[in-house]
Order: sequence, then C-alpha cells, then structure tokens
Amino acid sequence: MKMIEAQNLQIPKAGVKRVLTGMRTTGELHLGHYVGALKEWKRIQDEGRYDCFFLLADVQALTTHAEKPELLAKSVVSVVKDWLSVGLDPNDPNIHFVQQSMVPERYELSGLLMMIAKSAEVFRNPTLKSEIGSDKNPTMGFMAYPVDQVADICMVSPTPPRSGDEVLVPVGEDQIPHLEYSRVLARRFNHDYGDVFVPCSPLVGEVGRLVGTDGKEKMSKSMGNVINLSDSEVVVNDRVMKMFTDPNHKTVNDPGDTENNPVFIYLRAFDPNKDEVAELTEHYQRGGLGDVAVKRILAQRINEMLDPIRERRSQWEGRDLREIVVDGTEAARIVSRPVVEAVREKMHLGYPD
Ligand code: TRP
Repeated sequence: MKMIEAQNLQIPKAGVKRVLTGMRTTGELHLGHYVGALKEWKRIQDEGRYDCFFLLADVQALTTHAEKPELLAKSVVSVVKDWLSVGLDPNDPNIHFVQQSMVPERYELSGLLMMIAKSAEVFRNPTLKSEIGSDKNPTMGFMAYPVDQVADICMVSPTPPRSGDEVLVPVGEDQIPHLEYSRVLARRFNHDYGDVFVPCSPLVGEVGRLVGTDGKEKMSKSMGNVINLSDSEVVVNDRVMKMFTDPNHKTVNDPGDTENNPVFIYLRAFDPNKDEVAELTEHYQRGGLGDVAVKRILAQRINEMLDPIRERRSQWEGRDLREIVVDGTEAARIVSRPVVEAVREKMHLGYPD
C-alpha cells in the first residue's frame, strides 16, 4: 500500500484546495470523454495546485444499469485503464482514484442530506428530467441520485471550513444543475445546523460536448458512433472513413458546410495545427476539396493524438490496478470521516450522554 502522506491531509496556510469529479462506470471511454472532461482533469492535475479525487461512479451507474452489475464491475477496470492512458497519475500523492461504492462514509452523508433535500427541487433538475425521458416508473435510487451526487462532492469538503478553502468540480455543461444543487444543499445545511461544508466551485471545460461520428448529439456504443480511447489505428481509420459529412456536398467541386459537419467539428477538436484547419475549412467552403481527402487528414490527426495514449496504456499493462483503487478510495475515506462526524454532531446524532 502506498503511504497516504500525512502532509496532504494537513491544513496549508492558503486553504485546502481539493478537486472532486467523476464518471459513471458504464463502459469504455471515448473521444467525447477526452475533450469534454479528461483533458481538463489532466491539466488540473499537472498544474499541481489541487488534491484530486477522481470518482469511479459505480453506484450512480446502477441508476441506469442495475440489471447489469457485472458490466459495471468490468467497467470500473476499463475506466481505470482509460484514465491511466490519458496520463492521470495515481503515483502522484495528490491524485486519487476513488471507487464510489467502497466509501461507506459517502452513503451515510447521502442518507442524512436526503433529510433536507426537498423532492420538488430534486425532481425539477433538468438533467434528471431529460434522463428520465419517458420512463414512468423510475427507481428511488434514480430519482434521488442528484442528492447522492451532492454527497460525492460534500464528502471531500475541508472541515471545519476556513476562508481560502476550495472544492473545485470540473465537469461538462450537463452537470451544472447538479453542482448548483450541491451549493444549495451545502448552504442549507450550514444555515440550519452550523457550518460544515464549503460550497463547491464549478469549472466547465472549454469544449462542452462532442457529437457522434454520425453528427448525432448523443454518443453511444450501441449506436456505433464513437471512437474509443483504446481503439487501434485500423479501427480509427475505418470509423473516420464512415463519418457523416455535409449531405449537400455531393461532388468534390460543390461548396461545403464546415460548421455542422462532424468531420470539421472533429478537426477543430483534434487538429492542433490551427493554420491547417483554417486552410481546409476555407478550401472546403469554396469547393474543390473532397470528403475522403479531409477524412484522411482527420484520421491521421486523431491517431497522432491517440499514439501517446496507446503508449501509456501499454506501460501500465500488468500493473496492480486494484491497489491503485484501494489506495485512492482510502484517501477519500480519510478526508470524509471528519466530515461525516461533523454532520452527525451538528444533527445531534450519537449515543445519548
Ligand atoms: N454524474 C456524473 C456523470 O454522469 C458522474 C458523477 C458522479 C460526478 N458523482 C459526481 C461528477 C460528482 C461530478 C461530481 O458522469
């Protein structure tokens, strides 16, 4: 076991700076996860200013996949591999991979926060609403997950809160309602029972959301419109060649649209050479540039981006992933224990005197 260094848990003068964010463990991660979240997480890690807790949200994954627990268990492992491959580094004493289901303190906090969470305010959460869709009989676990997610965030709250403390939560835009609610509940608790929580600070990444290779809003494996971080060069080439483009760009000489064209959306996201992107855009709009030619360039750029990710993935091959998760989870338990104790005390829970 890696020693959890005591110095990380002491209170620095400038305040305690923590990051908490997470992903549901429902399958392999794709390019959308990379531009929408992982790139930003890595940047924050490398900045070195925060103690970072990255949550493997396997409990939240049960809200949609309760009938497939073995898939979720497998996904915990594949998500860890994906995180390692993009350069998140649990060898760094400030980086913790936390398995949500293995933090008992978190369930306790969640159960107690439920007591001050009003059903109407939870149910009008727009992210929850759109996820429910037409399901007429969602589970209680599903309906209450916004509160559970507040517990994820609040469990790493520096306590007692002091000025300069911070809990930063880097997320995609769809998570904003959850973070706003986290601030509402944290403040409500502090107001009703006394200060325990530092309301979190949201941080929304620059590329909000990537469309699928077919141009659809939603990316999913079942729709076959994703490129995974673990895909080989051959698979990437194949997927890019099958990408949708501008349907009105019928012959090479037609002027084409680049704004809503998935190939150009991907070029803007993955080609680091902005001059090249500008030139291709101009040429395509003018006419005379074929789809296959642009796709070849795009496939090459994606592969160039994925190469170091593939390389890192192979370096972690055969390493003890379980230990990484056990250590990261223990680090989260260490910081969350005093939070839960403070909550219990403020709520007058405990054995009678
Ligand atoms: N809701 C996030 C998702 O859908 C995962 C998540 C769980 C999370 N707990 C969190 C994100 C806490 C940020 C903070 O992927």
